[in-house]
Amino acid sequence: MTDDAQQAESYYFTHEPPPKDLGTNTTLAREFIHRHADEGRRVVLVTSGGTTVPLETQTVRYIDNFSAGTRGATSAEYFLQNGYAVIFLHRQFSLLPYSRHYSHNTRSFLDYMKEEDGRVVVDEQHQEEMLRVLRQYAEVKRENKLLILSYVTITEYLWNLREVAKLMRPLGPKAIFYLAAAVSDFFVPQDRMVEHKIQSNEEFLQGAADAGNSNAKTPAARTEGRSLVIDLEPVPKFLQSLVDGWAPEAMIVSFKLETDPSMLVKKAQYSLNKYSHHLVIGNLLLTRKWEVVFVSALDGEKWIRVPHGRRTKSFTGVPALVGSADLSARQDGLDAGESEKRVLQGEPALEIESVIVPEIREMHSILIEKARKRAGGQ
Ligand code: PMT
Repeated sequence: MTDDAQQAESYYFTHEPPPKDLGTNTTLAREFIHRHADEGRRVVLVTSGGTTVPLETQTVRYIDNFSAGTRGATSAEYFLQNGYAVIFLHRQFSLLPYSRHYSHNTRSFLDYMKEEDGRVVVDEQHQEEMLRVLRQYAEVKRENKLLILSYVTITEYLWNLREVAKLMRPLGPKAIFYLAAAVSDFFVPQDRMVEHKIQSNEEFLQGAADAGNSNAKTPAARTEGRSLVIDLEPVPKFLQSLVDGWAPEAMIVSFKLETDPSMLVKKAQYSLNKYSHHLVIGNLLLTRKWEVVFVSALDGEKWIRVPHGRRTKSFTGVPALVGSADLSARQDGLDAGESEKRVLQGEPALEIESVIVPEIREMHSILIEKARKRAGGQ
């Protein structure tokens, strides 16, 4: 790790206090990791959902982002299906594996149920699907293969990531970090945060407690006249610390989110070159449910796309943009999904994570084998 990255890390963790439940989380994680390491199982840390940036210490207002945690929660299920134990570090109240099928919907979970002879039962039309999900969930719980941890703010996320990553070191190459969370790039440092709710009424401007100390730094979020002014500071890029310091032997999969198709592959490649980790999965905001691009040293650039007739529904997605970031598809003048449209029409919907995760498992096997050979001096 460069001296700059090390200094940035040390400054951040000295100045931003740890979350209250960090001790509980690390105790749970330590026990979970040791048990699965003893059983020789692969373990993945899946991060999921957005991180908040509080503007006040007693937080009323904060900055947030769009992530619902679909990618993370769905991927966690497929990692479990593929034999991994999963530590699911997610934004509190974002989607969870298994229950995601019945929450954050346009329908209430009560719509899946009815009353029969004074008892609550699941509607006939949902029986089969719910029984399948319930059985999977019950098995994962019985075998203790899923550990759920949560965070809310960017600082809570980073403390948990760092501490759990260090605990995962004994897993060596059998660990994966699958960083699907949408992490804030900017934040309000603790020493520039006001204690109380920022006042909007000019007649009640910030009191002496916040403004009286002449040595205090200018608050990052403050009213100036009738405007709210926020100047945020950059969050250090912790991918560098993860790759070089916290988890040097693990497989690291980061995500790159863009909205401009012309930037996606370039930025994913840039990130891979900069951090020299194993895989960057690029996705566009408006097509992320149907296509992603894998960028890795092992396989170069590789697109994964759900065929047209099997795409899951999305209210915000824009089907016409599928293929727009894929230069070779554009040059050939085809939407790769279109070419398979006729064959697959009427097939059940395919979640793209059901294709992503087995691909990663295969890459992971190659990396584990390479590490085994290195350790054996072959
Ligand atoms: O939850 P969904 O609604 O299903 O959406 C899924 C998703 C679009 C959020 C997911 O697929 C995704 O792309 N997640 C990563 C989004 C993101 O943080 O991208 P980025 O370009 O800002 O960051 C790139 C990488 O740098 C990330 O791996 C991130 O962990 C890392 N990073 C980011 C900020 C920061 N301060 N330090 C970092 O190391």
